[in-house]
Amino acid sequence: MAFNLSIEREGELKAVIARYPVTRSALLPALWLVQDETGFVSDEAVAYVAKTLDLPEADVYGALTFYTMFNRRKLGRHHIQVCTNICCWLRGSEDVLKYLKAKLNIDVGGTTKDGAFTLSTVECLGACGGAPMMMVDLEYYEDLTPVKIDEILKNLK
Ligand code: FES
Repeated sequence: MAFNLSIEREGELKAVIARYPVTRSALLPALWLVQDETGFVSDEAVAYVAKTLDLPEADVYGALTFYTMFNRRKLGRHHIQVCTNICCWLRGSEDVLKYLKAKLNIDVGGTTKDGAFTLSTVECLGACGGAPMMMVDLEYYEDLTPVKIDEILKNLK
């Protein structure tokens, strides 16, 4: 089935495209608008973005698969991304991950049965000073402990 943005977001996309001298420059914002609307970027959405920006689909897939901020499938209502890079690892990211897996009863890549949370790992998010950290949706949570994680999850439900 062909993908289309809502009229409102299509207007936003046109405004973004108009900002750049080269249409290709709107690729990341276009993918972000798609994801903001549907929660992920489907193959049909890739075709839509490619056509709208007059780009080969391969170029759209190249950007889409390079950046971990883009999802290729529907996720839970909240996306928990635990940083497992060196600073976070040295300060206990393995324990954070283990705790979350047990608490949510899912593995990395999984979504809870109620559809509330999807758990992922991610490379350094640039908040090493607050290690161990995780990103939930667009928020950073740092210096994680089991108590802090419990509180974060409780507030998100
Ligand atoms: S290593 Fe985790 S934020 Fe940098």
